[in-house]
Amino acid sequence: MWQSMTDSVTQTERAKKRMDIYFAPMEGITGYVFRNAHHQFYGSITQYFTPFIAPSRSRRLTARELQDILPDHNQGINVVPQLLTNRAEDFIWAAERIREFGYTEVNLNLGCPSGTVVSKYRGSGFLALREELDRFLEEVSSSMQKMGLSFSVKTRIGKEKPEEFQELLQIFNRYPLEKLIIHPRVQTDFYKNRPNWEVFRKAEEDSRNPLCYNGDIFSGDSYRTFAETFPQVKAVMLGRGILQNPALAEEICSKKESGRSRMGIAKVRTNTEDSERQRLRCFHDAVLAGYQEAIPGDRNVLFKMKELWSYLGVRFEGGERLLKRLKKAGRMEEYKAVAGQLFEDCALTGEFL
Ligand SMILES: Cc1cc2nc3c(=O)[nH]c(=O)nc-3n(C[C@H](O)[C@H](O)[C@H](O)COP(=O)(O)O)c2cc1C
Repeated sequence: MWQSMTDSVTQTERAKKRMDIYFAPMEGITGYVFRNAHHQFYGSITQYFTPFIAPSRSRRLTARELQDILPDHNQGINVVPQLLTNRAEDFIWAAERIREFGYTEVNLNLGCPSGTVVSKYRGSGFLALREELDRFLEEVSSSMQKMGLSFSVKTRIGKEKPEEFQELLQIFNRYPLEKLIIHPRVQTDFYKNRPNWEVFRKAEEDSRNPLCYNGDIFSGDSYRTFAETFPQVKAVMLGRGILQNPALAEEICSKKESGRSRMGIAKVRTNTEDSERQRLRCFHDAVLAGYQEAIPGDRNVLFKMKELWSYLGVRFEGGERLLKRLKKAGRMEEYKAVAGQLFEDCALTGEFL
């Protein structure tokens, strides 16, 4: 429960604070290989959230989960491990392992919309069980305080209806969260429809916890529209937008970006476009090398790289034909040749610093 508000930052201090940009957890994509490559080539991320770890009664993390949070795999990166469970004792057990590795914050996933997760009342499925959620948060929150771990929550605004959020916010308000990250969609939206800014506005007015916004920020312009609408909110989490453009956080933070679309959309090659494309290529090569080291056999590496291109590819001007070939590539040599051609032949669209 809340002890006092005296140690929390005041409204004015929060208004002056610089923007925090968090890298969203994305299962299957933003594991340690991707995270390290991103951290090496791009900046402006305050914290990287891991894809969810689902602690079970067996009291064992899977190899994938363990590899992802090993300190050796996250050197010099500010990482927040995320947990997906509705059992307080499993959360506390996993949080203890996480603390032993030296992490200082742990995050609860109340957003995952996938059917298999929701049917077990986990992720956004847990939002439907308000009393159980309240009891879970009470137990977990007090344990995290005793363990000296910060505790944050990433949530959707309801299971079926946005109206559910009023009650959910009252529950969240009972506990001192490091931050409340809101993706303002309900579970049944999956990623359809638009994020509900009306509900986010209510949260901004009534939340006792520091808020972070997450949802559909795909460009500097969409960020600026958000920031103009919610000037008090000093933290955003970026997911698919940063997969499409790994430099998005830098673009958002750049002072040069204070004017709307000042750089315009690059349709032709310029020096900056050229150097951005080179940087993207180095990033791509680092991700590929990382997967080749971590995953046995080309087949699974290719699968991972193709998934990445389903996001990266949207910025390659006129790249449709090559992207189709890339998707079909069955051998690593073929993949490398097509990827190389994309970097050689297609200009990047987007804003450049
Ligand atoms: C492929 C994929 C995997 C995701 N995995 C997770 C996850 O492990 N934990 C989580 O809290 N959210 C997960 N999300 C949701 C994202 O973190 C984020 O909330 C969502 O993409 C909306 O933000 P965006 O519009 O900036 O992409 C995932 C989303 C996608 C598309």
